[in-house]
Amino acid sequence: MSLLVVGATGTLGRQVTRRALEEGYQVHCLVRSPRKAAFLKEWGAELVQGNLCDPKSLPPALEEITAVIDAATARPTDSLSVKQVDWEGKVALIQAAKAAGVDRFIFFSILDAEKYRQVPLMEIKRCTEILLAQSGLNYTVLRLAGFMQGLVSQYAIPILENQTVWVTGEASPIAFMDAIDIAKFAVQALTVPETAGKTFPVVGPQAMSGYEIVHLCEKLSDREAKIARMPLSFLRVMRQMARFFQWTWNVADRLALC
Ligand SMILES: NC(=O)c1ccc[n+]([C@@H]2O[C@H](COP(=O)([O-])OP(=O)(O)OC[C@H]3O[C@@H](n4cnc5c(N)ncnc54)[C@H](OP(=O)(O)O)[C@@H]3O)[C@@H](O)[C@H]2O)c1
Repeated sequence: MSLLVVGATGTLGRQVTRRALEEGYQVHCLVRSPRKAAFLKEWGAELVQGNLCDPKSLPPALEEITAVIDAATARPTDSLSVKQVDWEGKVALIQAAKAAGVDRFIFFSILDAEKYRQVPLMEIKRCTEILLAQSGLNYTVLRLAGFMQGLVSQYAIPILENQTVWVTGEASPIAFMDAIDIAKFAVQALTVPETAGKTFPVVGPQAMSGYEIVHLCEKLSDREAKIARMPLSFLRVMRQMARFFQWTWNVADRLALC
């Protein structure tokens, strides 16, 4: 099976690429910058230059590809918006995959996206799930919560470096999961026919609040955290301000997830 990983330089995409290579797949990675993606080539993947927002770059990347795992999403710091990458780019990718006769398509959505339609990325994920279901592709949707990897920079390093950690008291607990384990599910799904045309939640075993994560880090590091509480109302004001400038729209969309 010849696999195309989209978003292979990202937190999850690189784990998907590594896992697929370990399992003996011939892995192609659609990357925007081959220089930034050089490590994927060293691992044994073949790099194909392309961009979800440049639809012409997609058909050549899909030549002789039998399966796609799409782990791309707009970077908060990128000039391309969530709408451009996660919606317009994904529509182009799904159409190109269908036209290329791709056998399997794995897509990462967000858990409970349908409950938070006011959040732009959640609504886009919900609409993409519908689009995939209507596409005629042999798709599998994996609905994720959050990645353990994100906790390192948000909590672990600040605590180890005696810096302040910001905690949003009212935010719902999240069942974080290691991206390495999510990658195993995604690659395994390629060979399990029962997963085709289905949607699965893929989350960790225990939901934890920000305070619980801080206390766990304190226990593991034997250090006391300097905690600053960030009210949700403050994040909402920040979001409104970020929406004011086009160049901070991606930041605003991320704040909407809090
Ligand atoms: N992170 C979470 O906690 C979380 C939670 C639930 C669901 N998810 C979903 O899981 C998936 C992976 O998320 P992640 O956190 O691993 O993402 P990430 O680390 O932010 O990586 C994003 C990837 O998308 C690529 N990308 C961005 N714009 C692109 C474009 N225009 N064309 C082609 N590639 C583009 C980036 O490439 P460059 O290196 O070139 O920027 C990068 O490889 C996404 O679908 C996300 O919505 C994530």
